[in-house]
Amino acid sequence: MAKLKWGMIGGGEGSQIGPAHRLGAQADGLFEFVAGALDHRPDAGRAYAQRLGVAADRAYGDWQEMLAGEKDRDDRIDLVTVATPNATHFEITKAFLEAGFNVLCEKPMTMTVEEGEEIVRVAGKSGKVMAVNYAYSAYPMVRQARAMVRAGEIGKVRLVVSNFSHGHHADAGDADNPRVRWRYDPVMAGVSGQFADCGIHAMHMASFICDDEVASLSADFASTIASRTLEDDAMVNFRMSGGTVGRLWTSSVAIGRQHGFEIQIFGETGGLKWHAEQPNQLIYTPLGGRTQIMEKGEGGLHEDAQRLSRVAIAHPEGFPLAVANIYCDLADAIRGETRDGLPGAAAGVRSMAAVHTAVASAKDGGAWVDARPPMFR
Ligand code: NAI
Repeated sequence: MAKLKWGMIGGGEGSQIGPAHRLGAQADGLFEFVAGALDHRPDAGRAYAQRLGVAADRAYGDWQEMLAGEKDRDDRIDLVTVATPNATHFEITKAFLEAGFNVLCEKPMTMTVEEGEEIVRVAGKSGKVMAVNYAYSAYPMVRQARAMVRAGEIGKVRLVVSNFSHGHHADAGDADNPRVRWRYDPVMAGVSGQFADCGIHAMHMASFICDDEVASLSADFASTIASRTLEDDAMVNFRMSGGTVGRLWTSSVAIGRQHGFEIQIFGETGGLKWHAEQPNQLIYTPLGGRTQIMEKGEGGLHEDAQRLSRVAIAHPEGFPLAVANIYCDLADAIRGETRDGLPGAAAGVRSMAAVHTAVASAKDGGAWVDARPPMFR
């Protein structure tokens, strides 16, 4: 089968997420990296793309040049990944969807709920695949957890507790470093810092595994480093449509915590626990029974977990392969096969609604607010 043609915007040299996309997109030989506008500095972006093997005429200086250069080519890209800072996601994603391209956008999908709803509409009208890179949802043992919940193996879910708390922005003396600063600058990051950056991964994961949506929430935000306009720590309580109680903590000043993303799901007849730093294992405790460690690649896992396991049992699979799983599902979706695990524009706008309602709740002393986007009420 011919490889699909892939291009990328953002993710330039030294960026945090760029390498994970390049590894993920190319891991299975499904995509060929043929075009890019990789850096906010046009010359640096052109030069880096060429060093990565992109032909000179498709190593673009900015996304507008890339759109103009790609849209009328016979061999134009089948998929574009948007991996720029948050404030640019909406206009780039919308422009590429309107020009008939499939898009994978980094989270958060947009800055506002209105923009998110607009992306849902534009994606629907275009008929193109629109995905958001909630890559943690593509780890095999996360898929196993979701399949177990769907199969009723832990009964009705009563409670989900998630946190995504690290300590990598805890140095007040480094708060002005440009790589760190934009995440707490409303012009670049939007209305929320840490919750929009990491908390929405945890909230998406809760919805994804429980197969349910966040209906309402109450939030407490704090900027523990005084120079920050936006929060670097948040506690969010939520309720899902089906009645599940949710608790979520996210922080970037939790010194000693590294990646710090974990989730526990407590059902009527069992509990599950997954931790991103040990992604190959899912911990399962049946009611009244012993705790068991389920391993990626072992026999008897649900089909979706088996499908997305790549190497033999006990061989570690990490974040780039979770991203690769997103690209596998994207390749299938572009070729017309439905993959219900692929996070789409609806997941993107739900996150934006959660971000904005959490900000409103935090400003209102933690008042409970409807967290659904207006289009889904
Ligand atoms: P970064 O600051 O490390 O890198 C951003 C890159 O985009 C740089 O190479 C920069 O030159 C380039 N860039 C900026 N504006 C551009 C423009 N207009 N056109 C072309 N290139 C441009 O940022 P990082 O951490 O890589 O984050 C990028 C996005 O990825 C953010 O939206 C972030 O929230 C998301 N992200 C997602 C993760 C996930 O797990 N899904 C993990 C880390 C980041």
